[in-house]
Amino acid sequence: MDVDRSQASGPGASHVRLAKLLRGAGSVVALTGAGVSVPSGIPDFRSPGTGLWERVDPMEVAHIDVFHTEPERFWHFYGERFAALEDKQPNEVHRALVTLEREGLLDAVITQNIDMLHRKAGTRELVEVHGSIDRCSCLACGARVTLAQARSRLAADEAGVPRCERCAAPLKPDVVLFGEMLPAAAMERAQELCASADLLLCIGSSLEVHPVASLPLLTHRAGGAVAILTQGRTPLDGLAAVRLDGDLVDEMQALLGALGLGWGLPSESAAQAGI
Ligand SMILES: NC(=O)c1ccc[n+]([C@@H]2O[C@H](COP(=O)([O-])OP(=O)(O)OC[C@H]3O[C@@H](n4cnc5c(N)ncnc54)[C@H](O)[C@@H]3O)[C@@H](O)[C@H]2O)c1
Ligand SMILES: [Zn+2]
Repeated sequence: MDVDRSQASGPGASHVRLAKLLRGAGSVVALTGAGVSVPSGIPDFRSPGTGLWERVDPMEVAHIDVFHTEPERFWHFYGERFAALEDKQPNEVHRALVTLEREGLLDAVITQNIDMLHRKAGTRELVEVHGSIDRCSCLACGARVTLAQARSRLAADEAGVPRCERCAAPLKPDVVLFGEMLPAAAMERAQELCASADLLLCIGSSLEVHPVASLPLLTHRAGGAVAILTQGRTPLDGLAAVRLDGDLVDEMQALLGALGLGWGLPSESAAQAGI
């Protein structure tokens, strides 16, 4: 295993090695987690001090049973989350992945994030295995509304619960809650991508939340290389061909440098992507 703990933003030996793996691979896939959105001001789950679940117990609020039995409590939490996520913008890490895709060096991004930031940055091949806050659905009649519609219904409801216009049942965000299955089609696509990748870049994930955390094993077992770019230990560190442990903004900048590519994309890229 090749560990580079340098905080410097210039390319080190590990960045050069990863750049070579990227250039030599026929198929490259990225698997991202909450760490990618931390530089956008969105707390992750597990970082000490700031992690979201240090303050609330997810099983208490973001569980499908709570949605069914106590929609007011569920939406008190999710309403705050919507408000916190609404104005957030993609950062250099999201944009670096767009650069790699546009250079033909990255086939797809699989993300556990629900914040829409990869899409806003302009990633084209995106698999959102935990869904996205983009929409809400009515589990009773199947109606779907946009995030903006759900937010205005939430604001208009006395109990703070956005309700279906057709049948008045509480709306549910199209994200995977605790106690729910992952969307089958997205998970199948993620498994296919990982099993056929020559290189999987695991970026900003503690690799502790299953079943997503076992995707790198599919790549490894099929003979592909796994690179892990995340601060702190992960259970899969032992199988990583390259392990980068610094701040992701620095690490991605150094990687692009080692590839001879510029940093990020012009800010109008998101507008060009139609977002
Ligand atoms: N932005 C979001 O959409 C968001 C936010 C919080 C949680 N989640 C949910 O978290 C769950 C899974 O956990 P996960 O593995 O994605 O997140 P996680 O919190 O378990 O792990 C995030 C990892 O990123 C690392 N990290 C944080 N900031 C970093 C930085 N600047 N540079 C380098 N590394 C950094 C942390 O040390 C940690 O290892 C998913 O279910 C996901 O839906 C999503
Ligand atoms: Zn309905």
